[in-house]
Amino acid sequence: MKLSLDLEYSTPPEWANQVLEDFDSFLQDHADCERKASSMAMSFVAKCPDKVEIIPELIDTALEELEHFQAVYQLMEKRGVRLPDRMPKDTYIDRLIKLCRSSVQERLMDRMLLASIIECRGAERFRLVAEAAQDAEIKQFYKRLWTSEAKHGHIFVKFALNYWPEEEVYERLEYLNREEGKICESTPWRAALH
Ligand SMILES: [Fe+2]
Ligand SMILES: [Fe+2]
Repeated sequence: MKLSLDLEYSTPPEWANQVLEDFDSFLQDHADCERKASSMAMSFVAKCPDKVEIIPELIDTALEELEHFQAVYQLMEKRGVRLPDRMPKDTYIDRLIKLCRSSVQERLMDRMLLASIIECRGAERFRLVAEAAQDAEIKQFYKRLWTSEAKHGHIFVKFALNYWPEEEVYERLEYLNREEGKICESTPWRAALH
């Protein structure tokens, strides 16, 4: 059952052009996003040791994201691309975090729902890369990742539904989804996931 919402803003397919034009830079950013996604899943474990219902799946998610990081890194190695010393700031993520409310429980709920939206955006953009890529290996690689990230989009909503009423979850998710659409639309394109 699909629990995540459809994204409010659809990225134009042309977005994938500059990714493919500077694919090595895109891979560096992509690797960084996977590493952060793994850390984010584990940070939920650290923040809520009492939420035993979701901890096993959070650990699975962290492992899957780490596997994604490994797969991207292997692709980088093949192409002779290294991890950069420093990554530019991800303003998309910074602006999303600013939307979170400040009380502990509300902030936790917002972070979970944002995680769902970020996963859905990753799935959408990996799909665009898969569709635009000419290289069969790259096409296959991003197709596999797109299905995996779409699944993560659902599970973060499922996690939230364990602890907050459905109406409250979806009302907030709709709000965050709309705001994410505005942020995404106003973020200049670069050879990066966001
Ligand atoms: Fe991932
Ligand atoms: Fe993911």
